[in-house]
Order: sequence, then C-alpha cells, then structure tokens
Amino acid sequence: MTRDLDVAASGPLAGEIAVNGDKSVSHRALLVGAVCDGPVRVSGFGGSADTGATLAAVRALGVAVDEVSPTELVVHGVGLRGLREPAAVIDVLNSGTLLRLLPGILAGQPSGRFTLDGDESIRRRPVDRIALPLHRMGARIDTTDGCAPMTIDAGHVLTGITYELPVASAQVKSCLLLAGLYAAGETTIVEPLATRDHTERLLRAAGARIERHPGAVTVRPATALRLDELVVPGDFSSAAFFIVAATLVPESHIFLRGVGVNPGRAGLLTVLERMGARVSLFNRRTTAAGEPIADIEVRHAELVGTDVEPELVPTMIDELPVLALAAARARGTTRIRGAEDLRRKESDRIETTAEALVALGARVTTTDDGWQLRGTPARLRGGTVDPHGDHRIAMMGAIAGLYSEGGVRVLDADCIDVSFPGFRDLLAGIEAPWS
Ligand code: S3P
Repeated sequence: MTRDLDVAASGPLAGEIAVNGDKSVSHRALLVGAVCDGPVRVSGFGGSADTGATLAAVRALGVAVDEVSPTELVVHGVGLRGLREPAAVIDVLNSGTLLRLLPGILAGQPSGRFTLDGDESIRRRPVDRIALPLHRMGARIDTTDGCAPMTIDAGHVLTGITYELPVASAQVKSCLLLAGLYAAGETTIVEPLATRDHTERLLRAAGARIERHPGAVTVRPATALRLDELVVPGDFSSAAFFIVAATLVPESHIFLRGVGVNPGRAGLLTVLERMGARVSLFNRRTTAAGEPIADIEVRHAELVGTDVEPELVPTMIDELPVLALAAARARGTTRIRGAEDLRRKESDRIETTAEALVALGARVTTTDDGWQLRGTPARLRGGTVDPHGDHRIAMMGAIAGLYSEGGVRVLDADCIDVSFPGFRDLLAGIEAPWS
C-alpha cells in the first residue's frame, strides 16, 4: 500500500532547506568509484531508491561499499577490469541512469554475461539509444525490442568511434564515455545540444584523458582511475521544487545551501529570472572533483510568461514539470518547445504534467514537444493529482498544493522516494512558524 500525500495551502515559506545529495552525481560516484583503483570516500551521497539500485548493483558486481553513515560511503574500487559476473539479474528498479550508464562499463569487462532489468516503467524506456553505438564499438548487447531486459556479453574488443547523438542525452553520452575508457583509440561524442557534464568532470578528476571541443567530447583509453575523495553537491533537481515553491507563495524567503549549479543542470534559473523571479546565487565554489556549487536565496515574486527555446531544454530537462507549474501562475502565455524526450521519461511527462495541472485548474494544452500555458498569478483551485508512478510529477503536485485554494492530494506519493526520500519532511517544516 502506498500513501497519498495531502498538502494544504501554505503561509509564507521561510528558513534554510538542506536538499539531498545530487542523484546524477551519486550514481556516477558509485559507478566510477567501483572501477577506480582502491578506495574512494564519498560524502554528501544522495540516498534514494534509484541510487540504492546502483549501490546494490555495484555490490552484486563484487565491489565492497562501506556505509559509514547515510550520506558517507567508502567504495572499494576493484579497478577498471575487476567487475565479476553477478549471480542474478541486475535490478535497476526505476533508474534510467543506472540502466544507461552501467552497460558502458560492463561492455569493457574482460568476461561475463550481465542482464539488466527493472520495473514496469523502465521496461518502456528505450535502451537502443545506447545499444546501437555500443554495437558499433564492438560490444555484444541484446535488448527486448529496444528496451530492458537487456544482456551484455563482455569480453569483446571495443574500438573507439565518433558518434553523433541523435537525441541530446547525458545518459547516452556518459555510457559511451565510460565504454571509451576500454576502447582502442579515441571515442568522440558529438552532442546536438549541450547536456550535463558530470561524467566528464568526474572522469577527469579520476585521471582519465577527456578533451572538450565545442559541441563534442573525446575520451582516450585508460589503464587506471584514481580518486581519493568525492563531495556530492546538493541536488539542483530537488532544490528546484523549493525554488518554485518560494517564488509562488507570497512573502516567502528561503535559503538552499551547497546546491550543485552545473551549467548543464541549472537552466531553470535562467528561465525563472527572465520570468521575474528573485533568485540569487552566492558563495560560489567548486568541489575537488570539479562540480560548481552555490548557496541559493529565493524570495517570492510575481512572474510573467516566457518562451522557452529548445536549446535550453537539456539544461532543465527534469525541471520542466515544475517550470510548467510556475508558468501556470505567471501572467500571460508560456510556450515550452523541443522537449519531446519528456515522453520517454519515468512517465510521458508532457501528458502527465498537463493532466495534473489541468486537474488543479490550470489552462494547459500539450503539443508534440511541449506545452502552451495560459497563466494567471492567482492561486490554483487545487484537487487531486495522479502522478502515474512518476516522482517528479508527484512532487510538482505537492508544490502546487502550497499555492492553491483548496490544497492538493497526491495519490500514491511513495514514488517520491525514487529521487528524494526527505521531501515530505522538508515540505512539512518549511512554512514560517509566524504565518
Ligand atoms: C540524467 C540525464 C537525463 C535526466 C536524468 C538523469 C543523468 O536523462 O533526465 O534524470 O544522470 O545523466 P537523459 O540523458 O535521458 O536526458
């Protein structure tokens, strides 16, 4: 039985919010840590159902991981070619990142047969986008009509290729960068639009030879990776829900400390600023592994609609549902285009976002590649949101409740644990005590 989440209309939001460790970087910390030579100490790890699947996967592949605390791990890397065949199928649960990144490493192992499978939603998400280029590199991969379950037969020689990504995807780029560590010669990935570059930064910090060119990245084969310590930034995608919440609810004023602001992730800030939001970044710094972080201050503001151009979409791909909520409360029309890959996320997010917002009283129409929203600054009516098992739709619905007339009930809200298990507690504690 999963629990519904009831969110009542809120007074001003105030105080400091400590979001969980970044999910994308936490997956990569485990996956890259697993193939480093020797131990990697990870702090700020973002525990969640998704990253828990990656933790279980690397353990099943023979990597010892000490859980010093819920946010501190020591990953005892076994070296680039030290993973062993697991006794059972690797269960990625709901994690697209694990499903797409791990095969790049598995294809480079000297031997073994590895099968990856996951939940009902993951079985609908395409993996041919990694299987095709990995085949071209010489890997043997079988998919089920382009989806999971998929099996990788390791032990085949990989050769570097130049590959132009048909869809802007950090997961596919990362998979090929990881496979490129094992390939003879150079592997170059050409991106139609820039996506998050966590893998490049981490691999470079671990000693891999990564070269960036405009619109492309090249990796050379590696003999060993080494990384002593890795600090995971706060998750911008989690922070985004509270950034929008404080923007919408009158008189709010919040701080989020130590949040990752990788340019491939933080596009929401560019768009919100253009819409009139009052968001300031200060205390900018860079972690030892090369990730930019900052403290973020957010105050309530009245928003105006905008057009989000397709070039920005990859830098805010996971934030588009909550941006749509902000746009529904902005004066005037907002158009979001170039987001067709949202149809292949944990749910068809173009449809599930529109369905949720319409159920709460917003005026939204869908297009093939996004939405058109006719916003007003008034509170949403409120109502019930069915997130269709999608964590980000569930959290968007909950945030909508804070700035509604009648509150919002999110059905089956336990899917939130896929990325952000602390969300309910943070939400419960963010209303100013004097309101
Ligand atoms: C991710 C990349 C994005 C994003 C996902 C995490 C990553 O997916 O939506 O939540 O960690 O590389 P795509 O690469 O499919 O766009």
